[in-house]
Amino acid sequence: MGHISANVHDDIKKVLITEEQIAKRCDELGAEISADYAGKELVVIFVLKGASIFFADLIRRINVPMQVDSIAAASYGNTTKSSGTVRIDKDIETAIEGRHVMLVEDIIDTGLTLSYLKSYFERQKPASLKVATLLDKPGARKVDLVPDYNGFTIGNEFVVGYGLDYAQHFRNLPYIAIPKDYVWNDEEKE
Ligand code: IMP
Ligand code: MG
Repeated sequence: MGHISANVHDDIKKVLITEEQIAKRCDELGAEISADYAGKELVVIFVLKGASIFFADLIRRINVPMQVDSIAAASYGNTTKSSGTVRIDKDIETAIEGRHVMLVEDIIDTGLTLSYLKSYFERQKPASLKVATLLDKPGARKVDLVPDYNGFTIGNEFVVGYGLDYAQHFRNLPYIAIPKDYVWNDEEKE
């Protein structure tokens, strides 16, 4: 990665989605999910590490009983492109057979990671399986995959913040943003 400043905010070129917009959308999604699952129990599984912040904010707006778990999946390839080959580095500990499962992702780009995870969980025979994502980039899709709940639809730019990283940086930004151009400089050296 190229130059980084002592203050992460100084490396941002443009804020795409503000903290306030994210909070308002989480309120809406939480209410929608609570209504859709009324009378049921959920198992909410978030994908490490990127979805952790969205997950933490979202589940506190959902009022049905739930258990939570997480999975770590890495797709081979460089930092800005998905290759489609997915490796599970940390699995869930919950038995999901017969349960209502919601997968929480940070962003759907090509859709390869999530379609792999969806079929991985489908094989465990949940009663239902839905997907909630903070961001959707439908323009980059390589497989047919539509999220059941989506925070925001964005274009094909690479974004960081609110859990999303570039080379493991910027996850701590409270908003979604595009870094300054110099940040990408050493991309090919990763
Ligand atoms: P997909 O398999 O191409 O859908 O890629 C999904 C994963 O790629 C996400 O979970 C992210 O980790 C990563 N990703 C895709 N686009 C972005 C982005 O714009 N910023 C940060 N990470 C991204
Ligand atoms: Mg990710």
